Amino acid sequence: MSNHYLVVLLVSLLILLVNVSTSSAQRQVYIVYLGEHRHSGKQTWEEIEETHHSYLQAVKGSKEEAKACIIYSYKNVINGFSALLTPQEATTISEMEGVISVFHSHPTKSRLHTTRSWDFISLLEANWDATRPPINQDQFLRRAGYGKDVIVGVLDSGVWPESQSFNDEGMEPIPSSWKGICESGVAFNSSHCNKKLIGARYYLKSYEANFGPLDPKLDFRSPRDINGHGTHTSSTIGGRRVPNAAAIGGFGYGTATGGAPLVRLAIYKVCWPVPGQTRAEGNTCLDDDMLAAFDDAIADGVQVISVSIGRNTSTPYIQDGIAIGSLHAVKRNIVVACSAGNSGPTPSTVTNVAPWIITVGASSIDRVFSSPVLLGNGIQVQGESVTPHKLSMMHPLIYAGDAEIPGTTINETSGLCLPGTLSKELVQGKIVLCLRGYSTNVEKGLEVRGAGGLGFILQNPVDGISISVDAHVLPGTAVLSNDSATILNYIKSNKNPTASIVSARTVLSSKPSPFMAGFSSTGPNPLEPNILKPDITAPGLNILAAWSEAASPTKLFDDSRVVKYNILSGTSMSCPHVAAAAVLIKATHPNWSSAAIRSALMTTATQTNKLGLPITDGTGDTAATPFHYGSGHFRPGKALDPGLIYDANYTDYLLYLCNYNTSVPSIDPSFTCPDDFPSPTDLNYPSIAVSNVNSSGISVRRTVTNVGGGATVYKVRLEAPVGYTVEISPETMNFSSVGQRESFNIVIRPGSGFRNGYAFGWYTWSDGIHSVRSPIVVSSH
Ligand SMILES: *[C@@H]1O[C@H](CO)[C@@H](O)[C@H](O)[C@H]1NC(C)=O
Ligand SMILES: *[C@@H]1O[C@H](CO)[C@@H](O)[C@H](O)[C@H]1NC(C)=O
Ligand SMILES: *[C@@H]1O[C@H](CO)[C@@H](O)[C@H](O)[C@H]1NC(C)=O
Ligand SMILES: *[C@@H]1O[C@H](CO)[C@@H](O)[C@H](O)[C@H]1NC(C)=O
Ligand SMILES: *[C@@H]1O[C@H](CO)[C@@H](O)[C@H](O)[C@H]1NC(C)=O
Ligand SMILES: *[C@@H]1O[C@H](CO)[C@@H](O)[C@H](O)[C@H]1NC(C)=O
Ligand SMILES: *[C@@H]1O[C@H](CO)[C@@H](O)[C@H](O)[C@H]1NC(C)=O
Ligand SMILES: *[C@@H]1O[C@H](CO)[C@@H](O)[C@H](O)[C@H]1NC(C)=O
Ligand SMILES: *[C@@H]1O[C@H](CO)[C@@H](O)[C@H](O)[C@H]1NC(C)=O
Repeated sequence: MSNHYLVVLLVSLLILLVNVSTSSAQRQVYIVYLGEHRHSGKQTWEEIEETHHSYLQAVKGSKEEAKACIIYSYKNVINGFSALLTPQEATTISEMEGVISVFHSHPTKSRLHTTRSWDFISLLEANWDATRPPINQDQFLRRAGYGKDVIVGVLDSGVWPESQSFNDEGMEPIPSSWKGICESGVAFNSSHCNKKLIGARYYLKSYEANFGPLDPKLDFRSPRDINGHGTHTSSTIGGRRVPNAAAIGGFGYGTATGGAPLVRLAIYKVCWPVPGQTRAEGNTCLDDDMLAAFDDAIADGVQVISVSIGRNTSTPYIQDGIAIGSLHAVKRNIVVACSAGNSGPTPSTVTNVAPWIITVGASSIDRVFSSPVLLGNGIQVQGESVTPHKLSMMHPLIYAGDAEIPGTTINETSGLCLPGTLSKELVQGKIVLCLRGYSTNVEKGLEVRGAGGLGFILQNPVDGISISVDAHVLPGTAVLSNDSATILNYIKSNKNPTASIVSARTVLSSKPSPFMAGFSSTGPNPLEPNILKPDITAPGLNILAAWSEAASPTKLFDDSRVVKYNILSGTSMSCPHVAAAAVLIKATHPNWSSAAIRSALMTTATQTNKLGLPITDGTGDTAATPFHYGSGHFRPGKALDPGLIYDANYTDYLLYLCNYNTSVPSIDPSFTCPDDFPSPTDLNYPSIAVSNVNSSGISVRRTVTNVGGGATVYKVRLEAPVGYTVEISPETMNFSSVGQRESFNIVIRPGSGFRNGYAFGWYTWSDGIHSVRSPIVVSSH
């Protein structure tokens, strides 16, 4: 049965349960969002809970019923609660005084977006700007104290505390600002925290309200990670330097390190396995569990939050737990980095698009795991794998679509090696060509092995040059979709097709690099076309990082292998790279706002690859656009010294929200929307997106703050989008002191060669030392 069916079954099961209990009303988990606490510190927790109960009492009748249905009462910073309500009760509460939004905490909606990378980044910094001395990675890390004074919160699937990446040898005492805890639970107690892993908590009240009590066979009821994902992301941010690390089979061998090796990690486990689904399919992360984690992380004193979690579609800001939690965090100058999603290259798939978040796309590094397929006719086809097996002899080759048990597939599921579809008789002793889709890659391997196959070849889902590799349970390699067609042709045109799979080896300095990963979600921004998203790209293809020893490298239940490091792909992997860069900036400039840190990352990003050519999209032959990478590929060393920053504060974000509903910014009791508030294009963002420009054009305004040297003169250079004229005035800005702010206007008008659709350009302020670049995206219809 395919995963698709599993999902469908699960959803219909939930509906069934709900229908059955109609008499006791259809209760589901809703979040009632009330903004910020008014008198932080003045109200006791009991008083806050009392207030939350009073909303529920009004619809439920009695205090007892109110108490019985409440799940969370957010008490630190975020004001609100979650509870089991009927749709009618939810509607009634939404009309009560002080309620900003009432929304569903959807089960299965938010999911995890699944060491060489840091070396690669310093190579990029060194090679990409011939006019400046190369940046030595150690130099800027030292300047940032390796992140030792900064605390980063990670919302994910928990942590494997025994990993060497989290050892605290030689680390200084925990910063006195830390107020969090190390929560005990199954196989986890306070002894598992140390000076590196300073805090750990877990949140599953909403998970259990949706799915029933956590099955102890599925996960640890504690911050301990059974999945691997949370261990991977947190070690990417802050893992110590661990020499001789490698994935199973020795792939990617080298020194594993996080981007900020001395940063303090605070783990917030919010993602849990869905009963009935395989672990490889991923976890679910409930909005109200995540909001509780944000509320605690803010109160605990974290300075950066990394969230490799998201839906596959965008949700309005005030019905999105990550957007709401981040806004409260950003008010306190906590930087929040989120993954853009893995639904690319389809346009308008980018998620986590709130303008107070750093939204991160994914691209490749300069490493491949070469494992070619040799066909019986002598043709060699490129493949990639991190499966430590040898299958160098020629063996019979068969296409999965020709080896199925009749009746187990339909047209669209044929050839996919879905569970229970392959005929033992036909597959025994052969190498099988499987198509991607419906089930995870590693499950396909499991099916081939189960049917007696010797090995398998996996086709890439879409055209393009990015291959995500896996540690399969039998010899296997993955090939590009066009090459898969070559193999299929060979099978169809030969009586006795044969093949061998060449053992994989790690190859460094592959070209071109980086290129955009085909799966990285892309713009335009589906919620607000006048804010460009994603903001930036970072390594997310085949990334090596620490792993949970309770999970096999494939996460398959039938796979008993245990590894300390594993290779994963996704914007889940790129987000923690950018979170680490934010840590280093925060460590270097403790007083910079969250917007300033994002601006530094964006305006110093690069759009060229190591060859000095434009970074390509997932096809490998077309230049990527700001819809793929926003401002470009991050360069953490350069971001420590950006020259100018585009700042924005919490008030600016509330003013931005006035554009959607003038009552909504009452999130903050001291704020009301003025009669005249700026349009989204005038939010002081480090990139420019303007939609539906008409014949009279549009003028947008930006303000920059000097954070470089004292007296300096910046001049602008620009490339107008094709079909438009762009005027920036003034063209020169004189700064006499650090902290000085200067504003300029950008006027964009349709010009000659104008066509409907999207066009891309850029402008750069430069003082001869710093280059402060912003992309321009314009659309007309
Ligand atoms: C704006 O928000 C308020 C308060 O949440 C709500 O009552 C109102 O219906 C909303 N208006 C629109 C146009 O969505
Ligand atoms: C925590 O658990 C370990 C075993 O995993 C045990 O050795 C240790 O004494 C426990 N520490 C505390 C504080 O309970
Ligand atoms: C999002 O995921 C759901 C199931 O998890 C699927 O039905 C839906 O088609 C997906 N949407 C997109 C835009 O990928
Ligand atoms: C399967 O596809 C073939 C051609 O591609 C078509 O003729 C046939 O009707 C399809 N069968 C089903 C069940 O969709
Ligand atoms: C498939 O595409 C890749 C990347 O564009 C290219 O290198 C390779 O030669 C192509 N293979 C075939 C058989 O055309
Ligand atoms: C940073 O902010 C703190 C407290 O707000 C202040 O004491 C300190 O002087 C500031 N440092 C700089 C370099 O501005
Ligand atoms: C926020 O920034 C604006 C300028 O964009 C400034 O006028 C305002 O005083 C700032 N507010 C706070 C609370 O710092
Ligand atoms: C063009 O758009 C601007 C703002 O977007 C608007 O004020 C103006 O009326 C429009 N002009 C025409 C001719 O539609
Ligand atoms: C800015 O400085 C330049 C060179 O120092 C000078 O030529 C120019 O007049 C100055 N412009 C303004 C507006 O002060």
